[in-house]
Amino acid sequence: MIEEYSATNLPNLKDLVAPNYDNITLADAPQIRGIGVLTSGGDAPGMNATIRAVVRAGLHTGHKVFGVTRGYHGLWKGEIEELNGRDVSEKLQRGGTFLMTARSKTFETPEGVVKGAKMCKVFGIECLVIIGGDGSYRGARDLARIGIPVIGLPGTIDNDIASTEYTIGYDTAMNTAMEAIDKLRDTASSHERCSVIEVMGRKAGYIALNVGIATGAEVVLIPEQAYDFDKDVVKVILDGRNAGKHHYIVIVAEGAGTAMDIANRIEESTGIEARATILGHLQRGGSPTERDRTMASLMGVHAVECINEGRLNRLVIFKDGRITDVDIEEGLKMTKTISAEDLSRARLLS
Ligand code: F6P
Repeated sequence: MIEEYSATNLPNLKDLVAPNYDNITLADAPQIRGIGVLTSGGDAPGMNATIRAVVRAGLHTGHKVFGVTRGYHGLWKGEIEELNGRDVSEKLQRGGTFLMTARSKTFETPEGVVKGAKMCKVFGIECLVIIGGDGSYRGARDLARIGIPVIGLPGTIDNDIASTEYTIGYDTAMNTAMEAIDKLRDTASSHERCSVIEVMGRKAGYIALNVGIATGAEVVLIPEQAYDFDKDVVKVILDGRNAGKHHYIVIVAEGAGTAMDIANRIEESTGIEARATILGHLQRGGSPTERDRTMASLMGVHAVECINEGRLNRLVIFKDGRITDVDIEEGLKMTKTISAEDLSRARLLS
């Protein structure tokens, strides 16, 4: 029943102070004992490193830690198991998420959320750590609203979570895309072709914009900014050809068009041979980079620190060069976007 989880049942943790890890004992550990951790939405390199950090920091500060498989889907179905320190060994460097992930339709309904909350009670999960993007955070907020304390950790390759300047997985995905585009440039150059590369980002162009800068792309198309095909694509490519260029790189975020369509239109309009490549899920795999491993580890520890200090219903964020946290309701109200100026800066370099 929904009343069981009303906000008034939240434990009173206001007076808790940050733990001193050297001296902490079970007797003086904070009230919360059972922490659950799950990954939700699209996977991202570094999710395993994040789970590992939550598990290790949680165990070191006197908690029991439970792994929930298949995101919210596994939560409401009770796919929950206690984890020990060894369960997360050899995970730091592995891509994907060993807890697996899903996009749960059931959890988008109030009944699904209540079912999830019930399972938390059944397994003694007193705070749930969610690793995912804004969509996953909305599920977390719904749980928080019915009395299950939560902490959100930003895990998505898209870097599109408004509350944070950095998301775990972005750096690895960017490097994967950059290496692939460098290779495509080699062959485009040999054949004097235009290479049109579709990168991930249904709603956000951060990968497209920044990988475009990192690879010296002639054209970057993103969902946040409308474009004029003749002016922003055809003219730019023809100007390049007339200035003596031998290859052309066009990056398109999936939300701004398809590589195949754009390649066909370029070939038709310019007479320059064009080839399309979709990088797709390649960008979501692979061993995380140093940046993603470090961010994942430190953000995971920060999540446990929030719990130990009684700061619940928070999102862990990276802001102004440091890892900190923000209230989940506030975080979900924030917006961020790529401006026309950001895009025009990238165009200056082509
Ligand atoms: O993880 C986010 C994201 O990679 C988006 O950039 C992309 O549009 C989407 O996931 C693809 O999701 P799926 O794996 O469900 O096709």
